[in-house]
Amino acid sequence: MEKIAVIGAGLIGRAWAMVFARAGHDVKLYDNAPGATDYALRLIADGLRESATFGLISEPFERAATRVTGAASIAEALDGADYVQENTSEREDVKQAVYAELDAAAKPDCILASSTSTIQTSRFAAHLKGKHRCLVAHPVNPPHVVPIVEISPAPFTAPEVVERTIALHTRVGQVPILVRKEIEGFILNRLQAALLLESFRLVDEGFVSTEDLDKTIRDGLGLRWSFMGPFETIDLNAPGGVSDYAARFGEKLCGMMSGTTYRPWDAALVAKVEAERRERMPQDQHAAREAWRDRRLMALIAHKRDLDRETDK
Ligand SMILES: NC(=O)c1ccc[n+]([C@@H]2O[C@H](COP(=O)([O-])OP(=O)(O)OC[C@H]3O[C@@H](n4cnc5c(N)ncnc54)[C@H](O)[C@@H]3O)[C@@H](O)[C@H]2O)c1
Repeated sequence: MEKIAVIGAGLIGRAWAMVFARAGHDVKLYDNAPGATDYALRLIADGLRESATFGLISEPFERAATRVTGAASIAEALDGADYVQENTSEREDVKQAVYAELDAAAKPDCILASSTSTIQTSRFAAHLKGKHRCLVAHPVNPPHVVPIVEISPAPFTAPEVVERTIALHTRVGQVPILVRKEIEGFILNRLQAALLLESFRLVDEGFVSTEDLDKTIRDGLGLRWSFMGPFETIDLNAPGGVSDYAARFGEKLCGMMSGTTYRPWDAALVAKVEAERRERMPQDQHAAREAWRDRRLMALIAHKRDLDRETDK
C-alpha cells in the first residue's frame, strides 16, 4: 500500500490522516507549529473513535489510529512516501515555499497533492523541477466525512500522475472528480457561489427570510441533491429527458436569470442575515451545532453507503 505523508496538521490535515489510515495506509504527519503534531494525533484518535460509532471504520478504531505517526521534519515525513497531501496555510507564498521543500525531499515518483481551496497548481508549482507530479486534490470540510475531492491538475501535470491520484482516492473511499481546465474556485465553490449570490439577493431585496430560504434547500432541493445532481434531476423531471426538460423550461429559466446582477455583500446586508440567524441560533450554541452537523453528516453517509450496498447506485 502507498505510504502517505500529510503536511500541515490543522483541521484538514487531521481529517486526511483519518481517511488514509482507516483505509490501511501508513501515514506520517508533520506540522511546523510547536506541539501541533502531537495535539493532532490525539484529535485523530478521537475522530476515528467517533467515526467508528457510525460504522464508518471496518476494524477497531485503535488499529487505524496506530497507523498515523508524527514526523519531526518534512524530510522525515517524506522518507519513502508515495503520496503527499499538503494542508498548510492558504497563502501563495507559503505554498510555494513548502512545495520547493517537498519537491526536494520526495522520491522521484512521489505525487505532491495540495488541499488548497483557492490557489491553482500553476501558481505554486510552475517553478519546480518536479512540477509534472504536482496537482490540487481539494476536499470539502471535513474530508473524513464528505467524500468529494476535486482533482485539478495544471497543464504541466503528467496524465499518469492524475490517473494515479484518482485511483488512490477512489481506493480509500473518496469520490474524486476531474477539473479538466484550471479555473478559480474549481467546481464545487463556483456552484456554492452561484447559489449564495442568489440567496443573498433574494433576502436583500425582501423576497424571502433567511429561514424560509434555508427550508427551500433543506426540505426541497437538498433532499434530491444528497443522492443526485442537477443534470440527473432535470433528466428525470421530464418524461423525455434533458431535451424535453429544456424545451419545456429552458427559455423560462434562462429568461428569469438574464439581466440579474449581484451587488457585493456590504456590511448592512451581512448584518441583516447575521441577525436573522442569531434569532434562530444564539452564538453560544455555535460549537454544539457544528458537532451536531458532523454527526448528522456521518449518519447520512452511513445511510447512503447502506443503501448503495442494497441497490445499484
Ligand atoms: N478549512 C476548510 O474548510 C478547508 C476546506 C478545503 C480545503 N482547505 C484547505 O486546506 C488547507 C489547510 O486548511 P486548514 O483549514 O486545515 O488550516 P489550519 O489553519 O487549520 O491548518 C494549517 C496548518 O498548517 C500548518 N503549517 C503552516 N505552515 C506550515 C509549514 N510551512 N510547514 C508545515 N506546517 C505548516 C499550521 O501550523 C497549521 O497547523 C488550506 O490550503 C485550505 O485552503 C480548507
